[in-house]
Amino acid sequence: MSASIILGIESSCDDTSAAIISGSKILSNIAANQAIHNEYGGVVPELASRAHQQNIIPVVEKAFSKANIQQNEICAIGFTRGPGLLGSLLVGTSFAKSLAMSLNVPLIEVNHLQAHILAHFIDDANPMPPTFPFLCLTVSGGHTMIVLVKDYFEMEIIGKTIDDAAGEAFDKIGKIFDLDYPAGPIIDKLAKEGNPDAFQFNKPRMENYDYSFSGIKTSVLYFIQKEVRKNPDFIKENLNDLCASVQRSIIEILMNKLEKASLDLNIKDVAIAGGVSANSALRKAMEINQEKLGWNIFIPKFEYTTDNAAMIAIVAKLKYERGEFTDIRTTATAKYDL
Ligand code: KG4
Ligand code: ZN
Repeated sequence: MSASIILGIESSCDDTSAAIISGSKILSNIAANQAIHNEYGGVVPELASRAHQQNIIPVVEKAFSKANIQQNEICAIGFTRGPGLLGSLLVGTSFAKSLAMSLNVPLIEVNHLQAHILAHFIDDANPMPPTFPFLCLTVSGGHTMIVLVKDYFEMEIIGKTIDDAAGEAFDKIGKIFDLDYPAGPIIDKLAKEGNPDAFQFNKPRMENYDYSFSGIKTSVLYFIQKEVRKNPDFIKENLNDLCASVQRSIIEILMNKLEKASLDLNIKDVAIAGGVSANSALRKAMEINQEKLGWNIFIPKFEYTTDNAAMIAIVAKLKYERGEFTDIRTTATAKYDL
């Protein structure tokens, strides 16, 4: 039997992406980022959905041509139904529905958060995929949670943020430092030349496996306001140290709870997923725990960290095998539990 060829479409936030998967192998994974939001310091929903409208056809066409696949060769279409920005989700959802109708192939809805986690099952994501049950720290601009993954579609959130997501903390603190949006990757880069112990910021004291990131943001804000009153060039003169210190604090907060969960549940297969899993200090911390705590670690390739359609395609493939299809009358949903 030849491998199933599936088109995946992602449009939940500000990346329009399309991917073609054959079996578990990604043949193409195309994304168009929306630079329009940089000048606003965050994603503007109206502008995002309009940019998706402009990008979706060229992105899908490119995914087909890069994969060297004709439209009539695909056997299903997977799309992100939620969670995310409704106006953005509607573009991908409507497009997927129309194309599925015109090609007469089944439609498969995908939960964006499950997709971040299940990206670990893409052919070239890991030398060996994780074994169930495993823990997955899912860290993005919209979500921060520790997920107990019992099976492909049996996931339990055992801890989550009560306020800002980790990526949001990077982005908001970056804004205080006058960095462009999204600031996460910029902070990561600047931190490489900085001293992570230069400054100390407040750490939250949270029960169980939950997180909070609004405290560190406020702590940075007050500290900067105080220092800038004394020296207007304080940020400029200390930018690398500030970024390194902020990054160290955020990664320490993330890792402390993940270590606690691994210890309490006695699970040593530990994965990270989502945009913040691109962070070099988080990746390093995982590698240290592989040595120190004997973890089997699963770190996604860069192209599978931030929003991408390859992860949507792998979930669609897993559902296709299970015969789990979606009614064509479906609608996008901003909230969508794991
Ligand atoms: O998963 P993602 O692309 O979109 C959401 O579903 O939210 O994650 C985007 C988030 C942004 O907050 C961005 O700043 C953060 O991931 N991010 C990073 C890095 N690369 C992306 N944060 C820290 N270090 C990075 N290298
Ligand atoms: Zn995401």
